[in-house]
Amino acid sequence: RPRRMVVVRAEAINPDIKKDEAKVVDSVVVTELSKPLTAYCRCWRSGTFPLCDGSHVKHNKATGDNVGPLLLKKQ
Ligand code: FES
Repeated sequence: RPRRMVVVRAEAINPDIKKDEAKVVDSVVVTELSKPLTAYCRCWRSGTFPLCDGSHVKHNKATGDNVGPLLLKKQ
């Protein structure tokens, strides 16, 4: 079976959403969460995906992008 070749280039993944902000972070308030705050990755680079592990910081520095996690906050 042939191996699939994956080419990863350092480029922004966000073409035009909130580009005037240093980092795009959105929050959703929910009433039933086991933890007070849970961050979900939206940069697709987390080693703990779907949870954010802070890898977006390195990606943003390397590419000039401004992606950040989705934060779920317990109310
Ligand atoms: Fe992907 Fe934080 S690691 S948004």
